[in-house]
Amino acid sequence: MSSVYPYQGRFAVHRRLPEQGTSREELLAELATMAAEEDAAWETGKCSGTMYCGDHDHYRFLTEAFGHFAHANALQRDMCPSATRFEGEVIAMTLDLFHGEAAGDAGNRPVGMVTSGGTGSIAHAVLAYREHAAAGGRSTRPNLVKPETAHPAFDKACHLFGVELRRAPVDPTTLQVDVDWVADHVDADTLAVVGSACNYGYGIVDPIAELGQVALDAGVGLHVDACLGGFILPFGEELGYPVPPFDFRVPGVTSLSADTHKYGYALKGTSVLLFRDKAVRDAQYFTLSDWSGGKYASPGMEGSRSVGLLAATWASLVNLGREGYRRHAEAIFSTAERLVACVRRHPELRVLGAPTFLFSFTSDELDIYHVNDFMRTRGWRFNGQQYPNAIHLAVTRPQTRPGVVEAFDADLADAVVYARDHAGETPASGAIYGGVAGGMTAEADEFIRAVMTDMLDAQQAVPEA
Ligand SMILES: Cc1ncc(COP(=O)(O)O)c(C=O)c1O
Repeated sequence: MSSVYPYQGRFAVHRRLPEQGTSREELLAELATMAAEEDAAWETGKCSGTMYCGDHDHYRFLTEAFGHFAHANALQRDMCPSATRFEGEVIAMTLDLFHGEAAGDAGNRPVGMVTSGGTGSIAHAVLAYREHAAAGGRSTRPNLVKPETAHPAFDKACHLFGVELRRAPVDPTTLQVDVDWVADHVDADTLAVVGSACNYGYGIVDPIAELGQVALDAGVGLHVDACLGGFILPFGEELGYPVPPFDFRVPGVTSLSADTHKYGYALKGTSVLLFRDKAVRDAQYFTLSDWSGGKYASPGMEGSRSVGLLAATWASLVNLGREGYRRHAEAIFSTAERLVACVRRHPELRVLGAPTFLFSFTSDELDIYHVNDFMRTRGWRFNGQQYPNAIHLAVTRPQTRPGVVEAFDADLADAVVYARDHAGETPASGAIYGGVAGGMTAEADEFIRAVMTDMLDAQQAVPEA
């Protein structure tokens, strides 16, 4: 599918393990070249989400912390007791942020675990609820109820673990989940209901307190997906932005996921999953004590894990502290407000719901993908959405740099004119999560599968020199 293999013609294409190694200097120079070119795309501040921190100095610091422990395995605590310190303190600091002290009594305080990312935390949560229910003889045909807007990681986890997923509609104006629908669709086999704080599509927080009441009435769990917002919303709340409570202060919240590798500004590869009830977390531990290779145990689905990631995550939290996170949140929230104001200046454009640091907009008059097409020519990279067609911008630190809001304002004005001039034509961009453009046709699944195959196999199509 791909016509040009990345860096083909500039660097060697490795098809087999080279007989003789290449020098470190040469390889590091090659890596530095690729990284510098690729970083240039987001350093402009025109890329939605993804580069939450965007501060090379912070990255260098994290990389140094990572480097000290990159080679150590978190499974082998006798060799790396430091992992117990990093992991335990990352969990403790996260529990503190989400008011773990407000839940449980002294003998059963909320607990947590560190996973590989948002999908990892969500998958572990679904698995833990399933195993806990099964151990209690509760459910053999379990289900989970999520807002349609909640992340596909829930669909993936349900798919993997044989859990039925019930997708609740959202209110068309507020884009918050329809709580009555959730209440009507919870039953004796429900493991948990889900609320987002905030969701990926619109930056909107679901009515967590109301969902908590539904969960309490039905005797089921409530998982709050704060993967995206977890390390920024609490600081937005402290700063006086309208952030409703969504953590353990809310009765009925039984678990919460928050990604350190997003607004926690840590390296890619970590997230924290918290449980109100220790027994639920512990239900998904895996042990095999009669294996010929020895007694095996892992606290989650992963086997070996690098202690480096735990060290870097710990270092990010301790280095920035509440003051650092609050300072970055202030810059991001205020930038988001200014960017939203730019959108609202155009009567043809409509901001969806009441967003936070991430906003989405559509148009009832123009094709929003024409707007996107034009913005791309000016270097902007938004995420495309559907039902309705819309584009979103997750505001991160790179957008807080001087001049970015002004550039957005000017480019958006030109984009609106472009969209008006091209009405009736087919836009080039579409709605595929992760920023890969494609059409929104019945063949979308097939197209996406081809893109994934291409990412894995493109190398095979490169002709031998
Ligand atoms: C709200 C929300 N939940 C879960 C995830 C999944 O996180 P990850 O991509 O780290 O697996 C994301 C990712 O953007 C998200 O925005």
